[in-house]
Amino acid sequence: MGKDVIIACDFASSGEVFAFLDKFTEEKPYVKIGMELFYAEGPAIVREIKARGHRIFLDLKLHDIPNTVKKSMAVLSRLDVDMCNLHAAGTAAMMRAALEGLTRPDGTRPALIAVTQLTSTDETRMREELLIDRPIDEVVMHYAAGAAASGLDGVVCSPLEAGKVHERCGKGFLTVTPGIRFADSDVGDQARVTTPARAKELGSDYIVVGRPITAAPDPVAAYRRCVAEFVD
Ligand code: C5P
Repeated sequence: MGKDVIIACDFASSGEVFAFLDKFTEEKPYVKIGMELFYAEGPAIVREIKARGHRIFLDLKLHDIPNTVKKSMAVLSRLDVDMCNLHAAGTAAMMRAALEGLTRPDGTRPALIAVTQLTSTDETRMREELLIDRPIDEVVMHYAAGAAASGLDGVVCSPLEAGKVHERCGKGFLTVTPGIRFADSDVGDQARVTTPARAKELGSDYIVVGRPITAAPDPVAAYRRCVAEFVD
């Protein structure tokens, strides 16, 4: 799988997302649909964006008992998305069940990646609230290794962790990395950020870019700049 830029379409309605996608007349970017848009518009939004020819990462971060996740993944798989995800904290049994549910009768399935620890969870919260008493880097790598051992295709992580993840889980194990900003743009609420060019050097497989493209005065130009820095 080649490197690519995934646009985080964090919009609250189909009207907004289509007004945004209509700006792209020459290319069909890979898009991420998250909980906000999915819960607002339902599965129809996935079908409509797919019908326009976009690849889709459905970012719903499933986390439940294995049987529920298996059945839910089967439903998502029928939407013909290209990538979806879950929380590695759901354990190996849940991850394996998810893969079974995702696999279509013809043996194909969307790529499945895991969230290790959310970037909003820091080491203090992990220790005091979750009673996980290890350094956060070790926890992230352990969860990534668990995802790889369960047969998943990759993890969501920081570009800064991409090299370590590849070392531990193999070169082919995907690193899908948010927290991307241009050298000359606003950081917003992201704490540790990396430019598309630096993410490429660090070995990310996919960068997930939201506001630097969606809130840019010229989103198509901003997307092309990401592609030029990260892919070309
Ligand atoms: O606008 P921005 O580029 O910060 O958007 C990044 C996208 O990646 C958002 O959809 C955000 O929810 C998602 N994300 C993230 N950090 C994670 C996991 C997902 O920023 N650790």
